[in-house]
Parts: sequence; structure tokens; C-alpha cells
Amino acid sequence: MEDSNQLQSGHTNKEYIDLIEQLRKEDTASHRDSGKGKASFGIDSPMGLMSSFVFAPVYLYATVKGKHTFWDQALSSLPDKIFYGPSLDMGCGRGLVLSKVATKKRSLLQTAQIKDCPTYGIDIFNSSDQSGNSPQMLYKNIKSLDLLDGVVAYAASFTEPLPFADNYFSLVTASLSLHNVSLAGRKFAIREACRVCKPGGAVIILDLLGYVADYEAEMKLNGWMVVERRFAGLGVVFGSWPTQVLLAYKPVM
Ligand SMILES: C[S@@+](CC[C@H](N)C(=O)[O-])C[C@H]1O[C@@H](n2cnc3c(N)ncnc32)[C@H](O)[C@@H]1O
Repeated sequence: MEDSNQLQSGHTNKEYIDLIEQLRKEDTASHRDSGKGKASFGIDSPMGLMSSFVFAPVYLYATVKGKHTFWDQALSSLPDKIFYGPSLDMGCGRGLVLSKVATKKRSLLQTAQIKDCPTYGIDIFNSSDQSGNSPQMLYKNIKSLDLLDGVVAYAASFTEPLPFADNYFSLVTASLSLHNVSLAGRKFAIREACRVCKPGGAVIILDLLGYVADYEAEMKLNGWMVVERRFAGLGVVFGSWPTQVLLAYKPVM
């Protein structure tokens, strides 16, 4: 594995504080047991739920149950080798996808005897995008799932250069996060996802219909020719707004 100081692109690693490690130290120092209890992942865009009116039950199902099922299936459909390297979740929020990836790695890597395979998340922790969104909530969830050792989280925006070297991750995910920024920001985030993913690695994005076609176009502009985009299923319709999934593997030159 690369030295952590070599992860960075235009930054030094020390400029980014590992929130999980920081909160872990505070937790240990205070003896407050701040990670006890069950993991819980909140409601995506509470305003979106309220404005769904008669479709609110559909929205609620998507955010509380459907999204879990979607990601369980999406991750289990990927080849195991995709989990044998560092991964990044862009806009990890309270850690739903991050924790699923880390859990999968834990079981696979024990068998394959692979170590040092961190699961990274970045977010700006906007609580209007997800209820109760905060680094503390992410930490609590990661701790309650006993995943603290493999997870690194930074407060960082995907509209700015990501603090990682080119070709570093074997898996890059984004779940309902990219649509929150401007078109220019979304295109930038896609270019960064393409840059930090390594050849043969996978990018998988779940997002609202209307946004994902642009992601596909941007990836193709970056030379990623085989990009699959499809309806993500009835379980992840947010009110009356369907979602799409994009899955692509970085070309191996
Ligand atoms: C709907 S939530 C989804 C969270 C998580 N991916 C999930 O599926 O549970 C959207 C997330 O995107 C994050 N976000 C919005 N704009 C962002 C940005 N510019 N950079 C990083 N994260 C961002 C929000 O803070 C929020 O956590």
C-alpha cells in the first residue's frame, strides 16, 4: 500500500484530518461511550420527503429500506477483486454505503489475507441533504458496526480537487450525493472520480433520473467507453422521482 503522504494530489495528507481517528481519540479520552447503540442512517433530504405529498410513503420506503437493498445488491454484483483495494465514497453522509463496503471488505479480506485496504469517505455533512448528518453521527455508526479500524473520513467537497493520487482506488461510489451541486460541480466530481479510480477499478453511482445521463457523458469524454446506465428499481423511487444507477470500469490501457 502507498504511504499515506503519497495519497495526495496537490495537498499533503496532514491538511486533511481523519475525522474518525480524531473522534475516536476524543471518545477514548472522555469515556462517554458515544458509539453505543444501533447504526441508523437518517432520511435523505427531509424537505424532499415533505414535498412528496401523496408520494411520501414511496419516498420513505426508498430512503429507509430501498436504498439499503439497492446497495446490498449492487455491491454483491461486483467482482470480489474490486474490494481488494482502497475505496472511496463521495458524499458518504452517515455512512450507509461506506459501512456496507467496509463490512464486505472485512469478510473478503480475512479470507484473502489482504491488509491495509482502507475505506475512505468524504463529505461536507450537510444536514439538509440527510437528517442528523454530521461527522459524529458517521463515527457513531462506524463504531457501532465495529468498523473503526478500516475507515478514514475527511471533511472535503467533491467540487474541489480530491486529496488522493491518480489511479488509487479500486472502487469509487456515490449515493444520491452528486446532484446536490451545480452542473459544473457535478462534471468536476465525475472527472475526479475517473482520475482517482485505478485501471480495472469500478465507479458506481446512484442518483436521481435526469442527472445520471450527464455523468455518463462526462465519463465518455474522459475515455470511459463502456458505461452502463439503467433504472435503479422501484425500491429507490424518491416520491415520484426515479433513480438511475451508473456502473463503469476504468479502461486498462
Ligand atoms: C442524500 S445524502 C446521501 C448520503 C449517503 N451517500 C447515503 O446514501 O446515505 C447526500 C450527501 O451528499 C453530501 N454532499 C452534498 N454536497 C457535497 C459536496 N459538495 N461534497 C461532499 N459531499 C456533499 C451531503 O452532505 C450528504 O451527506
